[in-house]
Amino acid sequence: MRKVYIETYGCQMNVADTEVVFSILGREGYIRTEEIGEADVILANTCSIRDNAEQRILGRIGQFNIYRKARPDVIVGILGCMAERMKETLLESGKVDVVAGPDAYRRLPELLAAASQGHPQIDVILSREETYADIAPVRVDKNGVSAFISIMRGCNNVCSYCVVPYTRGAERSRDYHTIVREACDCAERGYKEITLLGQNVDSYHFGEYDFARLLALVAESVPDLRIRFSTSNPQDISDAVIETMATHANICRHIHLPVQSGSDRILEKMRRRYTRAWYLDRVAKIRALMPDCAITTDVIAGFCSETEEDHRDTLDIFEQVGFDAAFMFQYSERPGTLAAKKYPDDVAPDVKTRRLEEIIAVQNRLSLESNRRDVGKTFRVLVEGPSKRNAAELCGRNSQNKMCIWPDTAHRAGDFVDVKVKDCTQATLLCEPA
Ligand code: SAH
Ligand code: SF4
Ligand code: F3S
Repeated sequence: MRKVYIETYGCQMNVADTEVVFSILGREGYIRTEEIGEADVILANTCSIRDNAEQRILGRIGQFNIYRKARPDVIVGILGCMAERMKETLLESGKVDVVAGPDAYRRLPELLAAASQGHPQIDVILSREETYADIAPVRVDKNGVSAFISIMRGCNNVCSYCVVPYTRGAERSRDYHTIVREACDCAERGYKEITLLGQNVDSYHFGEYDFARLLALVAESVPDLRIRFSTSNPQDISDAVIETMATHANICRHIHLPVQSGSDRILEKMRRRYTRAWYLDRVAKIRALMPDCAITTDVIAGFCSETEEDHRDTLDIFEQVGFDAAFMFQYSERPGTLAAKKYPDDVAPDVKTRRLEEIIAVQNRLSLESNRRDVGKTFRVLVEGPSKRNAAELCGRNSQNKMCIWPDTAHRAGDFVDVKVKDCTQATLLCEPA
């Protein structure tokens, strides 16, 4: 029995893919280990979204070499977006035996077998069809409460800063029958929450099903489960999706709606196909139908040619929307993207850093204000387990995806508990049993 260890970087899609890889390798007799030191096969499922993500992973691949030197039969493989982006150069480093892109995982057993005969292997062919629809993922989440279900792969947008269309290929949607089957399977195994995943879930389409219909179908197929989804592109989120959320109590009141910039000029250069006004209209629609819906975002500081005025537009849209939380990044030029070809990366590093810090400062205040508005409210939360700091406390998320902690020794991971918010920090709602 060969033991396989996988380290996963990047987005939730990669976590879901790692579960597919464990399934494919499991069928060939590989067993999973969480101890890198005892692994026969060490895999990294990688991310290319920003240069610092890649640099960190390259450093880690260097460390894998220690195990490879100690035991020459150990195989090191690179999966995911860096495999797709860097291709042969990873093999040329001499530190890697297998390079497999996101659509090549069915061939992994074959690639690993050939590599163990001493022949380095690479497969970075992207597919127009592959969705791994028939593969039952081996869930890696330890507490068995929350599961990811991938509903589509790839991306057909060409946001000018973004490497994903190059690393993941063209967009394709998975047959909804297999999505519903997987959701029902999660319910039968005792999962309490599923997250439907895609780079752009709102452009899901399979047969007569668009994302709104898929969402309703899934929500009705597993009425006892909570449903989440990510990511919504502001250009595509339809009234029908928002209405479907509003009419299904088990669809969580949370939309991750990456704004990227508050400046129309920058949005256009980013090739985001919406304007600031459109974005604000979507927010208004969401709040009109679901006043309690959390809205979170992603933003990029210091994109090519961004001026102080553009930056102020970003700060301003943060204030106007009052995001509940945000992932905030400095622009990192990615080789091969439209922006890298067309626009100089001309915002000085210290200016990018300062602008990012200003956005973070605003968001920290908005997060705290958002949490303060919840003090006194009662929420139903899904228990994830003991809180990190105190064994006599549990933690779990409410529908809005906010982390709650409260004193409790009676409940367990997977239970739904009603709690009342007593106080808060910027990151957490401090609660008591309701
Ligand atoms: N499909 C999602 C985004 C996936 S990438 C969407 O369209 O919203 C996750 C986030 O990484 C993006 O929302 C963006 O904010 C950030 N990002 C992507 N490329 C980047 C780059 N070159 N530099 C900095 N941040 C980037
Ligand atoms: Fe990247 Fe844009 Fe596709 Fe999101 S929608 S993955 S940002 S190209
Ligand atoms: Fe990273 Fe690839 Fe996801 S670049 S963010 S792992 S799609």
